[in-house]
Amino acid sequence: MTISRWSKAQLQDGGWIRRMFMEGLRLRAQYGDDAVADLSIGQPLEAGDAIVDAFRAASEERYVGRFGYMPNLGYQEVRERTAEDVEFPGITADSIAMTSGAAAAICIALRTFVDPGDDVIGVAPYFPEFRLYCETASARFVPVRVDDDLRLDLDAISAALSPHTAAVLLNSPSNPSGHALDAAELHGLTDLLEAHKERHDRHVLLIVDEVYRRLIYSPYERVEPLALYPHTVLARSFSKDLGIAGERIGYLVLHPSLVSQETHLGLAQAMRALGFVNAPATAQRAMLHLASWDIEIGPYRERRDLVMQRARESDIDVAEPQGGIYAWLRSPWPDTLALIDELARRRVLLTPGVAFGVPSHLRLCFSAPRKKLNAALDTLAELTSTRVSA
Ligand SMILES: Cc1ncc(COP(=O)(O)O)c(C=O)c1O
Repeated sequence: MTISRWSKAQLQDGGWIRRMFMEGLRLRAQYGDDAVADLSIGQPLEAGDAIVDAFRAASEERYVGRFGYMPNLGYQEVRERTAEDVEFPGITADSIAMTSGAAAAICIALRTFVDPGDDVIGVAPYFPEFRLYCETASARFVPVRVDDDLRLDLDAISAALSPHTAAVLLNSPSNPSGHALDAAELHGLTDLLEAHKERHDRHVLLIVDEVYRRLIYSPYERVEPLALYPHTVLARSFSKDLGIAGERIGYLVLHPSLVSQETHLGLAQAMRALGFVNAPATAQRAMLHLASWDIEIGPYRERRDLVMQRARESDIDVAEPQGGIYAWLRSPWPDTLALIDELARRRVLLTPGVAFGVPSHLRLCFSAPRKKLNAALDTLAELTSTRVSA
């Protein structure tokens, strides 16, 4: 028995982040944790005590049906609390579907609103799983490059829009670029989508992946996509900001104009068809035991500033991360993969830009201990000064 052609193609083409992650495990087993600076995967900082207490309290709850099936879109009281947190007029529990992380939120949105064969426009650099999520919905992921400042290139998006376009899938703040969409960009985009509707009589769904929304560094600010365009859904999760990526808890927010019984049935059907069934029960209930979902952004900001300062001192071309947990660096070597290999030989793991559709760059995840960030930047500085030609 052999694996499918699709699986084989994925192994050949992608999976860089996981590949680096596995390499990190191997190096740590061989040399010990302290000797490896693995900045390849977007691992959040460790969860705090309040999170541990909330999960403990949730796991101790007892009532009839506690361990049974539940409505596919989640517990009503969790959906209500989540709706309050969204803080947008008209959002109620009916606008919320609890999901296994933002990943499942995007997948069910695609399955519910996008037909097989439709196009989903994204931007490069992009989160590599977007392509997989689209393939799972039998849709075509169509990435267009952002401009040199990492902002939306509205002309390129306009050129990519066609009668086949069902959705635009964006991520803000961006993994990997760190760019947070501003009001001018979002206005420009939604104007394009409104004009597209006039021409082709088709509403294009806007999906905004906001997993890093609580991690925006002032003076940058989050802009509310729901306020600009009614055909919008938000994919969110607690993975990064609360440091519970392994617990798989997130949610989809529907703009009030998208709420209907038909949409609910569609989403529930997608939850089942994709094998999620419902978001994990204990993680949902743990959210109710947390007095606040706010986070302490300081430790992330300190690390971001450290990486920026060290990179600039070493003459590395790095974009200021406006949000999220990644620094997006131009590779100081023309051959980015050769640099990635050389870094790995020195036990520093970063992710090559090819994973995100932009081979000239590298991604460094800065939610790591300062010691490891410094070790990685020492090595990068050393290799930058050698600037090997291709
Ligand atoms: C941009 C982006 N979207 C979605 C996800 C998946 O998040 P979750 O763990 O909530 O499924 C990640 C995780 O790294 C991400 O970076």
